[in-house]
Amino acid sequence: MSPKNVFIKTYGCQMNVYDTQRMLKSLSSHYQMTEDIEAADVVLFNTCSVREKAEHKIMSALGELKPLKKKKPYLVVGVGGCVATQNADKLLKKVPHLDLVFGVDQIEDLPQLIHNAKNGQRKSETSFKQEYSFYAVNSLVENVPKLVSSFVSVIQGCEKPCTFCIVPTTRGFEKSRSHQEVIQEARSLVGAGSCEIVLLGQNVNAYRTKEATFEELVASLDFVPRLRYITSHPNDVSDEMIRIHRDQKNLCEHIHMPIQAGSNRTLKRMVRLYSREEYMDKIKKIREEVSTIAITTDIIVGFPGETDQDFEETLSAIEEAQFDHVFAFKYSPRPGTPSKEKFSDDVPENLKNERLQRVFDVSEKMHLAQNQSYVGKKVEVLVEGPSKNNPKKLTGRTRNNKIVNFIGKNLPDGFKIKNNAKSFVNVVIHDVTPHSLNGCY
Ligand code: SAH
Ligand code: F3S
Repeated sequence: MSPKNVFIKTYGCQMNVYDTQRMLKSLSSHYQMTEDIEAADVVLFNTCSVREKAEHKIMSALGELKPLKKKKPYLVVGVGGCVATQNADKLLKKVPHLDLVFGVDQIEDLPQLIHNAKNGQRKSETSFKQEYSFYAVNSLVENVPKLVSSFVSVIQGCEKPCTFCIVPTTRGFEKSRSHQEVIQEARSLVGAGSCEIVLLGQNVNAYRTKEATFEELVASLDFVPRLRYITSHPNDVSDEMIRIHRDQKNLCEHIHMPIQAGSNRTLKRMVRLYSREEYMDKIKKIREEVSTIAITTDIIVGFPGETDQDFEETLSAIEEAQFDHVFAFKYSPRPGTPSKEKFSDDVPENLKNERLQRVFDVSEKMHLAQNQSYVGKKVEVLVEGPSKNNPKKLTGRTRNNKIVNFIGKNLPDGFKIKNNAKSFVNVVIHDVTPHSLNGCY
């Protein structure tokens, strides 16, 4: 029997990108991936609900699917990920042409769930399982393109009390994956040609099993050409982790450590568990040990009760910390989160927009100045493929996660990313933008 086609649209964070690969793996004995939604037998949306806007996008994508479902009544339409977990049965009620709603712990059950849906059972199944349910993903999946850089999930869920965040609700309690399984997956990915492994977790530094702490896990992955991890809650970045950054050669000089706000009043209401001063001390310590490290962050503007003074403190924190990249978001009240229950969303939309723009302006100016220090320098780049904006150029990243677009003047014809040796090149930077470096190999 020829395989059927599955179309998966992914929204949201790296964890969702990884979960899509899990879905493909889970379905691989009966389904192949298609990029053409019209040719699909199964359409799955892997969703994000961290902000309201993300949720709206999914509802409109589901709406657009109505004519296709009418034309192909046998089409199975499913919603997975965070919107699914949060809304479960409500989604089935709201969207009549939806067949299936599944949570992050049901991905391995997808073949059965789809089979049931085909037999007319419209169902939502989103409960959390006790055990970490993943198994080796990427390299075993024939129809997932082999990647230069691959994700490996090591911990699911988050137990931090951040009042604005829906992740603890949608991804549940922390479950770390077995040490042996992580090593095995990393080995098979490196064996299949991956030059970089990115360890994933909502708060990846909270990883802990009977066999290993996060620090021990990182130390045991010394065979990976380039190793990264994302995302770190500042309180869980230990002194030992900072020393590993200094001493372990394959661990890249980059750490994503969301500060969220610069005012202690706001940080307290967010229940981030650190003060501005403690955060700044931490980055000072990191930079003392690893001077070339890039520190990137997330910022929320317009959190309930944020005054002009609070916001000015966020801007001054960005400048004080000299972040290498800032991801900024407008506060979005999420159902069931403590901040939505306790505080009113009292910063008007136009003020949130204005503050967001000011964060972008301050950050861009800072990033441009930082990037200018690279002009004339040679940087080691892991080549990821052709540049999205200009197919005549190649694109890749430095160890400290700067995006580099470059012309391959000296590249052999038909340059292909085949093995480690060929995937790393030394690029000379000749000009820069706030978000990337341009150069020549
Ligand atoms: N530790 C996680 C955080 C998940 S959410 C990770 O990065 O994987 C990512 C970012 O979205 C957060 O750091 C925060 O800046 C932002 N965010 C989360 N909830 C939000 C909300 N309710 N409104 C606006 N931004 C939010
Ligand atoms: Fe969310 Fe805070 Fe965890 S931002 S993912 S609850 S560390």
